[in-house]
Amino acid sequence: MGKFLTMREIHQAVDAIQTRIDIQPEVGLILGSGLGALAESVDDAVIIPTAQIPHWPISTVEGHQGRLVIGRLEGVAVIVLQGRTHLYEGYNISRVTLPVRVMQRLGCEKLVVTNAAGAINPDFVPGDLMLITDHINLIGMAGANPLIGPNLEEFGPRFPDMSQPYDRDFLAKAKLVCNESGLAYQEGVYVSLSGPSFESPAELRFLRGIGADAVGMSTAPEVIVARHGGMRVLGVSGISNKANLDGSTMTTHEEVLEAGTVLAPKLTTLIRGFLAKL
Ligand code: HPA
Repeated sequence: MGKFLTMREIHQAVDAIQTRIDIQPEVGLILGSGLGALAESVDDAVIIPTAQIPHWPISTVEGHQGRLVIGRLEGVAVIVLQGRTHLYEGYNISRVTLPVRVMQRLGCEKLVVTNAAGAINPDFVPGDLMLITDHINLIGMAGANPLIGPNLEEFGPRFPDMSQPYDRDFLAKAKLVCNESGLAYQEGVYVSLSGPSFESPAELRFLRGIGADAVGMSTAPEVIVARHGGMRVLGVSGISNKANLDGSTMTTHEEVLEAGTVLAPKLTTLIRGFLAKL
């Protein structure tokens, strides 16, 4: 395994999936920690454990099942990743984004990405949905951009534009769904860190200062790769905990997973409503 993903590896992963499905997925969905429930209700589901796909970065985190579910939601052909892999598991960041490359090669032009996130914005509380309006890819700005390495010309240019990482029309559709179904929502900027340690109070105050509303350990790398390949993206954070800017409380992974039980049904309503509007 080389440092960076190659077209050959991507093709081999795609082939392993394509031989087992007979639909062409239109929308890719990536479900975050504790938020995998939506995958259980996919119609005509074909389930592929990611461990059976060549070159797949295997997820080891509790709350992440590591499987692809291919089928239909609201009549839309989807491929759902339940259990993403994170940078902190030790893979090169370009390998962490293999699932997005595979979705692109399978024909998906749209991506819905979700995550569990800590609230930096003091107005947010656990259980809130936050529609992601923009991101700060702090890990990428610090040298772990998923597009570092040979550019895969088949997908996109060496220097891709990032003026609209999250599609404005998708964002408008998501708000419409929330309004129609009485779902409260927040909007804000998501900052991606590597983890696995949670943030210190000083780091959180820094993140607040640079304009972040929610913090987590995923998403921006996937979205950058999605945009590089021309996908349109909807991003949603499930707020799982309040980040402790004054050091008065602790953050735990159990807390993050617990919030999922409140968040998962809300996300299901939002994503199903969104898919129905495509
Ligand atoms: N910090 C970083 N990542 C997270 C958090 C957090 O507070 N909550 C869920 N993912």
